[in-house]
Amino acid sequence: MIPITKPQFSREEEQTVLEIIRIGQLTRGKWTLKFKENFRDYIGAAYCHTVCSGTAALYIALKAIGVNSKEDKVIVPAFSFMATIDAVILAGGTPIVIDINETYTMNTAQLIEAIEKYSPKAVIPVHLYGQTADMDKINQVCKDNNVIVLEDAAQAHGAEYKGKKAGDLGDISAFSFYASKNLPMGEGGAILTSNPKLDEAISNWIEFGDHPALNLRITEFQAGVGYWQLQKLDENNEKRRRIAQIYNREFADLPGLILPHEAEGRKHVYHLYTLRHPKRDEILERLIEEGVGARVYYEYTLHQLRNAEHLDCEFAELCTKEVFSIPIYPALTDDEIDFVVSKVKKVVNEVS
Ligand SMILES: Cc1ncc(COP(=O)(O)O)c(C=O)c1O
Repeated sequence: MIPITKPQFSREEEQTVLEIIRIGQLTRGKWTLKFKENFRDYIGAAYCHTVCSGTAALYIALKAIGVNSKEDKVIVPAFSFMATIDAVILAGGTPIVIDINETYTMNTAQLIEAIEKYSPKAVIPVHLYGQTADMDKINQVCKDNNVIVLEDAAQAHGAEYKGKKAGDLGDISAFSFYASKNLPMGEGGAILTSNPKLDEAISNWIEFGDHPALNLRITEFQAGVGYWQLQKLDENNEKRRRIAQIYNREFADLPGLILPHEAEGRKHVYHLYTLRHPKRDEILERLIEEGVGARVYYEYTLHQLRNAEHLDCEFAELCTKEVFSIPIYPALTDDEIDFVVSKVKKVVNEVS
């Protein structure tokens, strides 16, 4: 079975993990600092804080923004990993769920409607599958209405919008370094901002500051692995883009199949390569039988999952029934790519 994803490590990561064991500085050491500074500079933000997961990063970002009570509304897209909405609920706020568009990111027409109706404190655009949301429109409407923009960049390390990196497009951003991500550490996360007030608020939530705080630190092992993965991120993203190009070319004429759409001015880094087809369940079952590790991201919408207040999310609801993702990762060999291509062609043609 070709898995949906697989991390790839080399001698640098091995040697660094061994060095950390031998020296015995397991936390709060040089690798944590090195990773933090290098990731901050790579993204282009002024401040970076590492934490133990993407969920923790979203939660701390929301606390830093000042989301504390039910009156603090936060707009989220209907189609994302559950952490996007759970962080809002855990922070004490009220999530308001809106639909997505053909790029699987936030529907900006509905965002305007939701801001007028709910007067939210913050909006969380999710750069889903590796492609950024339409940030110019989102930033403009949020600025006009005094709403903070928190990017959920958990799936978008290295993705770009008009030449700027995801994570430096709003007021504050959250990343995940979970095992399957484009920059994997096993577990991990980061919060970035260029706003000194938000930076100070973040520090107060994760270091021992002026109110009770959580210990959400990463270890030196995670930071050491992350440092080397960061050095390879651009090269690995190019490999993902090349595979996506092959898939796009090979699948262009398959009946009923909708390919991922890279919007103009955006650089998609294909954390996931996601297709859509009305006969998704049948295709998924057949692909797995044929040895292709296809999976569904996501089988739920966030408003249905957490019974949240929402606008009409018809397209997201359709996506839960029609999307499926196929293997894409830098270590995929040409033979494996050919194998996936031939099986997808065979199965989609057969169900049509
Ligand atoms: C869009 C999105 N947001 C948030 C998270 C949460 O990250 P983590 O699993 O590191 O807590 C993830 C990934 O798992 C994600 O894909």
